[in-house]
Amino acid sequence: MKTAQRILVTGSAGRIGRAAVVALVDRGHTVISFDVRPTPGVPAEQSIVGTLTDVAALRAAATGADAIIHLAATPDDTNYPRGTPPNDGDNFVSELVPNNIVGPYQVMEAARTLGVRRVILASTGQVIAGHLLAGNTPVTVESPPRPRYLYACTKVFLEALGQVYAKEHGLEVLAVRIGWCPRDAGQVAEIRGSDLFQDVFISPGDAGRFFAASVETDSLPPFAVLYATSRHTHALRYDLSESKRLLGWEPTETWPTGAEA
Ligand SMILES: NC(=O)c1ccc[n+]([C@@H]2O[C@H](COP(=O)([O-])OP(=O)(O)OC[C@H]3O[C@@H](n4cnc5c(N)ncnc54)[C@H](O)[C@@H]3O)[C@@H](O)[C@H]2O)c1
Repeated sequence: MKTAQRILVTGSAGRIGRAAVVALVDRGHTVISFDVRPTPGVPAEQSIVGTLTDVAALRAAATGADAIIHLAATPDDTNYPRGTPPNDGDNFVSELVPNNIVGPYQVMEAARTLGVRRVILASTGQVIAGHLLAGNTPVTVESPPRPRYLYACTKVFLEALGQVYAKEHGLEVLAVRIGWCPRDAGQVAEIRGSDLFQDVFISPGDAGRFFAASVETDSLPPFAVLYATSRHTHALRYDLSESKRLLGWEPTETWPTGAEA
């Protein structure tokens, strides 16, 4: 097991980023945080406030890192499916392209040119949403993408990007199809009303332990897609067996643990 590493966490001030930072610090790793807003719980000298498209800032943050956990992104669509005017404008060009397409490219380029060997990429269950709607469950790591909306399309690109950098540049890359860790009270209420959403819920604690395991595991294949959720309440929707096999990680919590934390 790899201990006491230097880990760059992008999106470190966000819902999942904060959970990852807590788990990594608890386990003795040195976290370099990177976000457009300050990250709680990280010493000022290890905390970088910057944007993914500022290549110099990103390279400074990644220099000397053993691994990168890349979470920074615009985490959903806006106005999709399209509403009626004026609520018919999506956020593809304004947010998704710079943050979810150009940003990951810059992260992979920083890893390649600085010799960071392992990158963990935050994908989403929204890339296989079509299978969930069709009842083709549990989805597995072999399930081909059936993306929900435009945000999910950017995560299909993210997974493909990781696969290319693993194959062409020898990096170890994991693309993690994360379940649902609610960011606000409205999302908590949505999950409360749906068996499916409760089954794909991931608690901050399980998410933090997942990301710690992803950087601590000694050896990984060049590229893998994995799922991350807490334990299901009603039915198994995402097959977690590869996550257990590769990382030795198993969720220990169920909905609604930590949902409102
Ligand atoms: N929360 C979930 O349920 C969920 C589910 C599946 C996938 N994901 C993915 O996990 C990751 C984290 O999601 P989250 O829920 O914590 O979202 P969040 O919005 O709480 O956190 C994202 C963080 O990224 C930062 N960020 C955004 N663009 C940036 C940029 N260009 N440069 C630097 N920082 C930037 C934001 O300031 C924010 O702190 C995202 O990639 C998201 O797509 C989240």
